[in-house]
Amino acid sequence: MHPEYKNCFLKLLDFSPAEIREFIDTAAELKRQKKAGIPHRHLEGKNMVLLFEKTSTRTRCAFEVAGMDLGMGVTFLDPGASQMGKKESLADTARVLGRMYDCIEYRGYDQSIVEDLAKYSGVPVFNGLTDQFHPTQIIADLLTIEEHFGHFKGINMTYYGDARFNMGNSLMIGCAKMGLNFTACAPKELFPAPELVEQARAIAAENGCTITLTEDIEEATKGADVLYTDIWVSMGEPESVWEERIKLLTPYRVDSAKMAMASEGAVFMHCLPSFHDQNTTVAREIYAKYGIEEMEVTDEVFESPASIVFDEAENRMHTIKAVILTCMKK
Ligand code: CP
Ligand code: NVA
Repeated sequence: MHPEYKNCFLKLLDFSPAEIREFIDTAAELKRQKKAGIPHRHLEGKNMVLLFEKTSTRTRCAFEVAGMDLGMGVTFLDPGASQMGKKESLADTARVLGRMYDCIEYRGYDQSIVEDLAKYSGVPVFNGLTDQFHPTQIIADLLTIEEHFGHFKGINMTYYGDARFNMGNSLMIGCAKMGLNFTACAPKELFPAPELVEQARAIAAENGCTITLTEDIEEATKGADVLYTDIWVSMGEPESVWEERIKLLTPYRVDSAKMAMASEGAVFMHCLPSFHDQNTTVAREIYAKYGIEEMEVTDEVFESPASIVFDEAENRMHTIKAVILTCMKK
């Protein structure tokens, strides 16, 4: 836990492997209790506010259900619903929310915003996604991998796509901390920042695993146990980047040829939402403009038995519950 941001969950770099292990084990136990109908209202009387400056399905619902299962009161503030940023500074908002709530979840833009919220509110703050990191997603991914393979040691994860944004960054750090070999398979322009790679490599060396960056699809795919991807243009990025991203990332789409090249028993993972078909307005707009029907993953792979994306999505709730409970009890 970061000494300056005690009881907060802002990024995985702040936590030791033992602390990450505690989140995963707590989540597995809370999942067991939920399935068995055993109540776990350990935070009755506490209140949590969810501050969203970007849209969400999984993270919002996971925080709401987790909070309610723990017996908490939960308030959701959507991007247009609070004064924050428009009529009231972040520091003032944080100080007000800290007087009323026992903890705060934030989803939005720069990592410095969750850090400032933690600094000014005086209560635990949880990062529900920033441009740089999406740490609650990674705890869910790790639980899902452990449920599926039974261990982390020797697992090779390859991440295809935009490796310099929240998902690529956080998966790289999560793998380094927990001993999974991580490969970012992307065009050079979309490699993670060199300073973060250096940090990840130092952590990986301590935990007996490796960090690889490559543009070479065959090198990245042979031996991969987990093929992971994310959307090509993230929330908050300008429309204008679509054209270049499509050009850069089309070869990195996860398709059945890549699944066939990977290890036997390899799985497909994705944080979701995903553009794998024509059933969304954005996918139809992209098709009308650029003529591509599938983006980061083919519908065939997404819908195949190797795809564990909905187990992964369910685990968002169990793992977020573990994060809230662990941080609030410290
Ligand atoms: N994976 C994820 O964070 O999903 P949402 O954007 O729906 O919260
Ligand atoms: N990289 C994506 C992740 C969504 C969960 C985004 O930031 O939009």
